[in-house]
Order: sequence, then structure tokens, then C-alpha cells
Amino acid sequence: MLNLGVNIDHVATLREVRHGIEPEPAFAALICQASGADSIVAHLREDRRHIKERDLYILKEIVRVKLNLEMSIAQEIVRIACKVKPDQATLVPERRQELTTEGGLDAVSNFNSIKQVFYKLDKQAIMVSLFIDPDKKQIDAVRKLGIRMIELHTGRYADAKNKKEQDKYFEELETAVKYARDKGLHVFAGHGLNYYNVSRVAKIEGIEELNIGYSIVCRAVLVGLERAVREMKALMR
Ligand code: PXP
Repeated sequence: MLNLGVNIDHVATLREVRHGIEPEPAFAALICQASGADSIVAHLREDRRHIKERDLYILKEIVRVKLNLEMSIAQEIVRIACKVKPDQATLVPERRQELTTEGGLDAVSNFNSIKQVFYKLDKQAIMVSLFIDPDKKQIDAVRKLGIRMIELHTGRYADAKNKKEQDKYFEELETAVKYARDKGLHVFAGHGLNYYNVSRVAKIEGIEELNIGYSIVCRAVLVGLERAVREMKALMR
């Protein structure tokens, strides 16, 4: 059964547009949870553009499904993660000017820093997943690090300009899933997935979880969060 992780960052984005008190991300998390989300995902960015520390403490208190914290490997963020103790941490790259996470974390060139962060999080019994591009070299590096979970970046597939390009990146994704599964890794995927492109990815054998944020929050504005989550789960089935 394919799980759905709902990323609630953009509920907080809406709040931060006015630096106000609504909408409350914790409220959104409870609705997602009650509507069939298998995990709640939130990204505490170094620039705090959406999720804040207080959100994490509240989420930790109230979320009953898996709480997955997306985070960079910056020391300050690692320290907070060790305090909050989410069920899972997904390590992602971060750049100040980006609109959203633009590529996977390079596990080859950041090997030693990731190793140290993995050690710290693992000591707190936080499961660690690495957000990487669908690339064999990256998967090999994850294996060498001793990390057992990856999330494959679906951005290239999702942003493809035409069918031919989409087919190419879909194949790349499928190959990476098979390669990682053969190496014994747990495989998740996400980024840029929406109601129109999700079904194809959901059919790839071996993916355990899809993490989706933006498109669910966008649909929620029009039809409500409960329906948005249920519709996404239905498409994934
Ligand atoms: N997975 C990871 C690791 C991400 O960084 C993001 C974006 O925050 C997502 C999934 C969700 O992407 P989207 O908002 O495009 O659905």
C-alpha cells in the first residue's frame, strides 16, 4: 500500500504573507491526518519563510501519524531537530533564493557532513531519509553512509515540457527505484507531484510513500483540505 505524506508548509506560507495567526498549520495537520494522510511533513527552513519552531513543537505534540521533518544539514537546524525529535528527518539541500527545494542533496560531495548529521539524529532515534536525485551514484553514496531510506526527487519528471521529456525522466525514476530497492533501501518520492501527474509515479513498484504539498494545499483553497487529501489518496490507489 502506497502511503501519502502531506507537506503543510504552504499553509504556513499563507499565514506568513500577513505575518498573522491564521491559517494554523497544526489545524491543517489534524485535518490531513483525519482525512487519510499517512504522515505529516514540514520543512523548517533556515530563513523560516513558512514553518517556525513553535509549529514543530505543536506538531510533535498532536500528530499521531508519522511526523517527517524536512531539514538542511545546518548545525542550528540539526540542534532543533534533536530537541523536537520528529519520527523522521528528511535531509534536503537549501539555498536562500530558491522558490522551493530545487534539487536533491548531493550525498557524494557532502558525504562527511551528512555522516555527522546522520550520527546525531540516529542517536536520538530519529529515522533519517535523504532527498536525492534519481541517480545511481547518489544511491551508492547513501548505501555507503549506512542510511536506509531515500526520497527520490521527482521534479524533473514533474516539470517536463512535453511527453517525450516526461517519458525520459519517468524512466530515469523507475530505474533509480529498482536500483535502490535492489540495494535494500526504502524508497519514497516527491516534489512537484500533482493531481495530473501522480498516477504514473504511484504505479512504480517499490515506492513506499509519496510526499506532496503544494498541489494539495492549492486544491484545498478551492475544495477544502479534507477533500483535497482524499482525492489525492484515491488517485494514488
Ligand atoms: N519532498 C521534499 C523533500 C520536498 O523538499 C518537498 C518540497 O518542500 C516536497 C516533497 C513536496 O513538494 P511539492 O510541494 O512540490 O509537492
